[in-house]
Amino acid sequence: MTQIIAHRGYSTSFAENTMNAFIGAENAGADGIELDVQLTSDGEIVVIHDEKVDRTTNGHGFVKDFSYKEIRKLNANKKGIKKEPIPSLEEVFEWMKTNQLICNIEMKNGLFPYEGMEEKVIKLIRKFGLQNRIIISSFNHYSIVYCYRLAPEIETAPLFLEAIYMPWIYSQSIRAKGIHPKHSTIPDHIITTTMENGIAVRPYTVNRDLDLKRLFKLNCTAVITDNPVKALKCKKQK
Ligand code: G3P
Ligand code: CA
Repeated sequence: MTQIIAHRGYSTSFAENTMNAFIGAENAGADGIELDVQLTSDGEIVVIHDEKVDRTTNGHGFVKDFSYKEIRKLNANKKGIKKEPIPSLEEVFEWMKTNQLICNIEMKNGLFPYEGMEEKVIKLIRKFGLQNRIIISSFNHYSIVYCYRLAPEIETAPLFLEAIYMPWIYSQSIRAKGIHPKHSTIPDHIITTTMENGIAVRPYTVNRDLDLKRLFKLNCTAVITDNPVKALKCKKQK
């Protein structure tokens, strides 16, 4: 049964990567959430997509130049009525105690290496005992290999922007149990063969009915979507 993972939370209805977007995904019936993490100047893991706060908040500048106390003052719901802070990963994990959702943590360490990020993320996952509910992904494949070395019990999945040849061989070679390809780059037979080789396939970011239905028909492991309500509807119509 294909799982539905809400991309940056239920981001078509709530401000992306906010607690309300994650709670909204849970209420919508999603199986899990996807979120992005960066590090503040004092080493707190915060949930925000861009290296800069400008697009999604009322602030300006790089996440890495804010302390946690400073960044918490920003409003991550700048188009909405009620102010919402940028969540810490710890805050998300506290909320995960109240449900059974899975969480795909995308480490945004392609531009800035965020030294120590892998250790911090893994320490927090272990503190909350969430090893079986987390998938760590990144476009930085060196980073996810490092995560595997630090914590082989936690699932990893490389993100791909382009199609690659025999992705199941590649993922096995880096000990990843899944792949997260851009949905438009992966044809049906590659999805099927990858899954037949024991590798989970969770394409992103799947928002059109046509694309959702294709993946549900293939019994793809999961879809990563901005709109879990639409995805659930398409799943029922499969
Ligand atoms: O998880 C896949 C997707 O989130 C990667 O792209 O830019 O939305 O973080 P982006
Ligand atoms: Ca992401």
